[in-house]
Amino acid sequence: MLRHIQLNSCGKLNHLLSMEGLPKSTILDILKRANDFLTFDDGILIKKSNNLFGKSIFNIFFENSTRTSTTFEIAARRLSADVINFNVATSSTSKGETLLDTIDNLAAMQADMFVIRHSKSGASVLIAKHINKVAPHIHIMNAGDGSHAHPTQALLDMFTIQHFKGDFSTLRVAIIGDIAHSRVARSNIHALTTLGSPDIRVIGPNTLLPSNLSDLGVHSFNDINSGLSDVDVVIVLRLQNERMTSTTLPSENEYFKLFGLTEKRLLNAKPDAIILHPGPMNRGVEIDSNVSDGPNSVILTQVTFGIAIRMAVMDILNNS
Ligand code: CP
Repeated sequence: MLRHIQLNSCGKLNHLLSMEGLPKSTILDILKRANDFLTFDDGILIKKSNNLFGKSIFNIFFENSTRTSTTFEIAARRLSADVINFNVATSSTSKGETLLDTIDNLAAMQADMFVIRHSKSGASVLIAKHINKVAPHIHIMNAGDGSHAHPTQALLDMFTIQHFKGDFSTLRVAIIGDIAHSRVARSNIHALTTLGSPDIRVIGPNTLLPSNLSDLGVHSFNDINSGLSDVDVVIVLRLQNERMTSTTLPSENEYFKLFGLTEKRLLNAKPDAIILHPGPMNRGVEIDSNVSDGPNSVILTQVTFGIAIRMAVMDILNNS
């Protein structure tokens, strides 16, 4: 179903809504294209291109963002597009305009692509289905919808893992934290599975683990030391309090005592394991500062790679 909406009749990427249903070849194309936008001679540099000259990219964020909104804007500017940052807070949304009426009006402003973040799961799919009927030339990119999907985050995570570790086929990857409410966890599990990672683990208290883990083909651990044993990659997630509907934890202090990633616990992983975190980070809750700022952390490199990934997605959509 999601494959059908995301790919056009020629099998090319038309909207990016979810990692679920994306073919391996499409994911690898995006990772390769992102690499083409980078140089590694003297640190990491992002190239400038004219590939989206004359195109209008609308950043439409109904939920707050630091990394995704800013790197989408930088990526569009690096591709020479015109960027319109739609300000939801000062828009007519507050006067009762519906989501789809807002979309219709922005489409009428000669948009070429919409970047959508929304607190409701399925918002981007709803918009993509609508846009296919009213303005099929517009491409939709999901910048995070509720607890459903965050595909560009997963793609930049895969790019980071590939950059530091190479082949996915031998990797042990652990995701620690609030898996139940995490669009990043869901998207990363789909991406890692499609790319062939043989051992994907989730670590957390039962109250933060979803019930369908066996359908997703991952191993679950309530004990962080066992879950981290010999892993190559650790992805740390924050507690998504804004999506919790009931009390699932005694306290943040208690959570850190049982599941916080500390230097001592990291000793269970391989010595060269890399630490990722999508941000925003809550130091002293899910991760200790000695780890987030330590030698195994690639957290800020993820952010830089996010620009190249978003350039790659927009460039590929522009050619579909
Ligand atoms: N990773 C991520 O989505 O961060 P922002 O909420 O700051 O965009």
